[in-house]
Amino acid sequence: MEVTLTAIKADIGSIGGHVAPSKAVIARVGEAVDEGGKGLIIDRFIGHTGDDIAILLTHDRGTKDERIHRLAWDAFQEGTTVAKRQGLYGAGQDLLSDAFSGNIHGLGPAVAELRFNERPNEPFLMFTADKTEPGAYNLPLYLAFADPMYNTGLILSPAVGRGFTFTVMDVENLDGDRVIELSTPEEAYDLAALLRDNGRFVVESIRSRAAAAASADEQAVSCCTTRLRNIAGRYVGKDDPVMLVRTQKNFPATGEVLGPFGIGHFVAGFMRGSHVGPLMPVKAGTGVSFFDGPPIVSCLAFSLREGKLTEPCDVFDHPYWDWVRENVARKAHDIRAQGFSGAAMLPYADLEYGGITERMNKLDKRFCIR
Ligand code: F6R
Ligand code: MG
Ligand code: MG
Repeated sequence: MEVTLTAIKADIGSIGGHVAPSKAVIARVGEAVDEGGKGLIIDRFIGHTGDDIAILLTHDRGTKDERIHRLAWDAFQEGTTVAKRQGLYGAGQDLLSDAFSGNIHGLGPAVAELRFNERPNEPFLMFTADKTEPGAYNLPLYLAFADPMYNTGLILSPAVGRGFTFTVMDVENLDGDRVIELSTPEEAYDLAALLRDNGRFVVESIRSRAAAAASADEQAVSCCTTRLRNIAGRYVGKDDPVMLVRTQKNFPATGEVLGPFGIGHFVAGFMRGSHVGPLMPVKAGTGVSFFDGPPIVSCLAFSLREGKLTEPCDVFDHPYWDWVRENVARKAHDIRAQGFSGAAMLPYADLEYGGITERMNKLDKRFCIR
């Protein structure tokens, strides 16, 4: 059976600042999806990470489907009404347009979609991150799909060892979405040269070369590439990306995809979207705290049969990840100890709120040549 997974994620208001959505808002989003989704969707899951609500839908209508995207949009609108009634902070924040126009891309919410013929058993992962940007997934994806130091499946399994084709988007190109395809292992160094720049080059999708050779459905990964700042023209929060990953057989195993998240690599985001902080893998439903962060990512594993979802398994809810969280908390503390200095904050072009630019412009006039 051909099925489509659509994950759409948005911040529509949260309790106590940018911490977490209220139970009432999450419940209203779920009800609205159920009411509007009758006869349209097969199944759904609603969750939250930090201040963002994620809607996962299964259906048979393909990607970028107007009715599916509208369902999520309307549900977020319904949730926003409750958020406003409760006085939540930033109610409706990520709904950047007054009206829905055919497709949710470019309207604010983060989207990741996968369409494929279901395997007899179909495992997949939904990653949701908060207080960071889409490029935060670059390193874990490179390591899981192209580096045998992290994914020994690349040398153990002939199918996985055939390699993968990455589609990478230049998200800073103002004339439209510029993409490039690179295949590993041959082009691994070219890929690394792009993916080191998380703010500009973002993995959009990854396909299995073994599956392509066998004419099977090849897409393993779909990532959101939205940059809210480019849409809104001002700071409205970081992009808090969502990602879907199919695992096992021709694709990396679930544990191989998760492994690189043990690094807690430094990403852009954190307080006011203007800092550098380590990405902490957290349990589903975790809010944010220390310095509006640290940047967090959660991951739910599902199986799928005829479009019906199992209950989710929270894969970062495990003693191993408690130890990782301790280490990442230490990294977060260490970089915060140096406050505004050097590597703790982002380069000029990525600083939000305009305050630094304003201040520098003012000071510039007071410099004199000696
Ligand atoms: C990060 C984020 C927060 C806010 C900060 C100030 O994505 O949303 O760190 O930038 O709490 O928020 P405002 O400007 O709304 O007071
Ligand atoms: Mg927010
Ligand atoms: Mg958020």
